[in-house]
Amino acid sequence: MALERTLSIIKPDAVAKNVIGEIYARFEKAGLKVVAAKMKHLSRKEAEGFYAVHRERPFFNALVEFMISGPVIIQALEGENAVLKHRDLMGATNPKEAAPGTIRADFADSIDANAVHGSDAADTAKNEIAYFFAETEVFTR
Ligand code: PPS
Repeated sequence: MALERTLSIIKPDAVAKNVIGEIYARFEKAGLKVVAAKMKHLSRKEAEGFYAVHRERPFFNALVEFMISGPVIIQALEGENAVLKHRDLMGATNPKEAAPGTIRADFADSIDANAVHGSDAADTAKNEIAYFFAETEVFTR
């Protein structure tokens, strides 16, 4: 299995709950390495651009408002099967449906404030990583 990268965001609710370290520990225990990281308070334009694919969805405005409500931690993670591994760690989008022991089951309160974002495929991950990080900010470890 080839090494893969995924884009992960710890959302404003989880940053506010002070569980950044607990979430990073889960990445590391699963064999995912942090190869890029930054804390950022997204502008409306940045959030709208990032979620542009969802522009027509009824929850788009709520999602953007939430994502700009406080700082986030953005990281690129590298590992075997990183996209799927990270999605398994996150659990279902709606925390009420997330499997026990997943990040969303443990730290998220609602579908609007669901603790983490993760790329849904390797090609999406490439674009999402490039959206937030220059090539010189991503490190092979
Ligand atoms: S899809 O169809 O699979 O792309 O949709 P999904 O991945 O479930 O959701 C896309 C992103 O929108 C967020 N989302 C919501 N935000 C607010 N309110 C509601 N009802 C809602 N439903 C979905 C969801 O968390 C996804 O954001 P990210 O950041 O990718 O997790």
